[in-house]
Amino acid sequence: QKLQLNLDQIEKAGYEHFMLKEIYEQPSAIKDTYRGRMLADQGIIRMAGVDDNLERFLNAKRIIVVACGTSWHAGLVSEYIFEDLARIPVEVEYASEFRYRNPVINKDDVVIAISQSGETADTMAAIKLAKENGAFVFGVCNVVGSSISRETHAGAYTHAGPEIGVASTKAFTTQITILSLIALKLGKAKGSISNTDYHMYLNEMELIPSKIEKALESNKHIIEVAKVYKNAKNCLYLGRGYNFPVALEGALKLKEISYIHAEGYPAAEMKHGPIALIDEQMPVVVIATKKGHYEKVVSNIQEIKSRKGKIIAIVTEGDTSVKNMADHVIEVPETFEALTPLLTTIPLQLFSYHIAVMLGKNVDQPRNLAKSVTVE
Ligand code: G6P
Repeated sequence: QKLQLNLDQIEKAGYEHFMLKEIYEQPSAIKDTYRGRMLADQGIIRMAGVDDNLERFLNAKRIIVVACGTSWHAGLVSEYIFEDLARIPVEVEYASEFRYRNPVINKDDVVIAISQSGETADTMAAIKLAKENGAFVFGVCNVVGSSISRETHAGAYTHAGPEIGVASTKAFTTQITILSLIALKLGKAKGSISNTDYHMYLNEMELIPSKIEKALESNKHIIEVAKVYKNAKNCLYLGRGYNFPVALEGALKLKEISYIHAEGYPAAEMKHGPIALIDEQMPVVVIATKKGHYEKVVSNIQEIKSRKGKIIAIVTEGDTSVKNMADHVIEVPETFEALTPLLTTIPLQLFSYHIAVMLGKNVDQPRNLAKSVTVE
């Protein structure tokens, strides 16, 4: 018993839970993801799985992403990145819907399957269906040698290291990292981004780990905010553009580990329904970073304010306009719009983590959930 306890403590490296450890590992996990692949000073992105199949990627009429859960959210982020940087149309599908829908799959489609565990049954079935229809299937997995990594034609590992907490954290940000590298590589090869922008992106990507470190410094402040809202019954998460999927992911994290009902929405959709829910009891987490529809998000904040909703805003360092309106602001460093999800996700992970701890929930093994879902 005693030995077991010590082993457990060693594995958690001094952190109270695996989830917290994994949140804090993100700067190094992302470095591990791009190590040996991205040579920023030479302007090179090397990824065998993409290099060996470059023509298939460049000739793709569209990319179909299949995934579940948090990996599906990473897929949604990649839709913005691939369309923006590589100008390839993207569809993002829940693997469980795709596999049963009789979907249209063409030979020149590239299917990207995203899975931390590489074992999710629905994602596996979607891959098999895509292969039967002649599509090229590329896997983005974390677990080396997993079933999905073996079933796909080619792929890239995220190299995030083992993720033990059931609620996915570092797998999400490393998946986004890999998908961004692929989009940049294709954008450069297709000429859809300029050489200057390409180099600027690579240099910025290198700064992301230290910017995440900076974002993690808000931890104490986030604990204070979590104390205020730990007894909330509902919570709304809003974001636009690249940060809409981050809003979905923030809401999922809160649901998974604290069992508080939470919904993510594109901020502009608020007026088509969720606004009816807003009153003084309703905390609204708004991602309002400087890049990406800032003015529009600010007007969404005003709408919430006038209905007495409580606002927790994720803002760019040094922001003053949102600060004046929001009940709480949590800062993240400035970065390129396409890379903001890598930073804005961090405070949302910490917020849900601390609420769950304060409520005495089993953070690493939430009720009814499994780390990998190998059943349908
Ligand atoms: C389960 C896990 C989630 C994960 C999802 C997809 O629901 O609890 O954290 O996002 O499966 O898993 P995968 O391993 O395919 O990414």
